[in-house]
Amino acid sequence: MNSTYKNPLLKSMKIGFVGAGHMTQALIKGMIQSKSVRADQIIVSNRTPGKLIKLSETYGVQTRDYNEQVVEECDVVVLAMKPQDMPGAIESIAGAFTEHQIIISLAAGIPFSTLTRQISDGRLVRLMPNTPSIIGRGVLGFMSQKPDDYVTATVEDLFSSLGVVMQVDTEEKFDALMISCSSGTGFVFELMMYWQDWIEEHGFSEEWARKMTVETFLGASLLAAESEGIEIEELQSRVSSKKGVTAAGLQSMREMEIERAVRFCFEKAAMRSKEISNGSK
Ligand SMILES: NC(=O)c1ccc[n+]([C@@H]2O[C@H](COP(=O)([O-])OP(=O)(O)OC[C@H]3O[C@@H](n4cnc5c(N)ncnc54)[C@H](OP(=O)(O)O)[C@@H]3O)[C@@H](O)[C@H]2O)c1
Repeated sequence: MNSTYKNPLLKSMKIGFVGAGHMTQALIKGMIQSKSVRADQIIVSNRTPGKLIKLSETYGVQTRDYNEQVVEECDVVVLAMKPQDMPGAIESIAGAFTEHQIIISLAAGIPFSTLTRQISDGRLVRLMPNTPSIIGRGVLGFMSQKPDDYVTATVEDLFSSLGVVMQVDTEEKFDALMISCSSGTGFVFELMMYWQDWIEEHGFSEEWARKMTVETFLGASLLAAESEGIEIEELQSRVSSKKGVTAAGLQSMREMEIERAVRFCFEKAAMRSKEISNGSK
């Protein structure tokens, strides 16, 4: 058990999850494996029972048949349904929240203004993990509806074993973090697929092409991570010599306006997020 909590009360707190899908499973796995919380502190409910049985067997967490039970028993409640399921799920539990509870919404595209239409009690937090959280290399952005040291300490204690936990102070920044880091993980995979395809077209097996792609992205990321204080542009210039092979490739990337394509992708994702916020399915 972690002995360096910012919130000393954490070890006696109950952490609830309403919804037992992919993200809940990833968060629970990370929290238990890193010992940031014990299995007996976690209580989970879900719309249908299948995932609960698996979670209980795998991690020893407690499960409940009804969402209301999780809300009634827990100090922190993570709302982990798909955004479109959120309003219906909240409707039946909104009245059970209490003033001191920390309520963490994972829903992409649902702003505080919408959440507070249904939830009037509790300390509301939006949290945006990305899938590398599964291996402890996530970026987890969070924002409290109202600045609150107790909430900040609790969220950091609960999730820092899953990656870098970053608090933001506006929903604009929260959305930018969601697009660049959560959706961004998907965008990076898209690039990796092009990389792998090209390598395979040049005679390598799928296995090797995948390995070469992954190691190239990983190596570049780790080099950047370990080169603190050195601009990424400088790292790039060290790979490239004037009129050389890399320079020719980079020139083509610029002529093809890859930056514009990436910016366009981010802006499209931002527009979709706004549409979801405005109630579009
Ligand atoms: N996956 C990601 O990479 C990611 C990243 C950041 C944030 N998020 C956010 O995390 C949330 C969950 O995503 P996910 O990928 O984990 O989705 P998911 O795998 O579809 O899981 C959602 C779970 O919610 C359950 N559920 C639906 N309605 C419910 C209700 N009324 N009461 C109790 N449980 C209910 C579903 O139950 P059934 O088993 O019956 O379907 C399902 O197990 C979303 O809001 C998403 O925006 C996800």
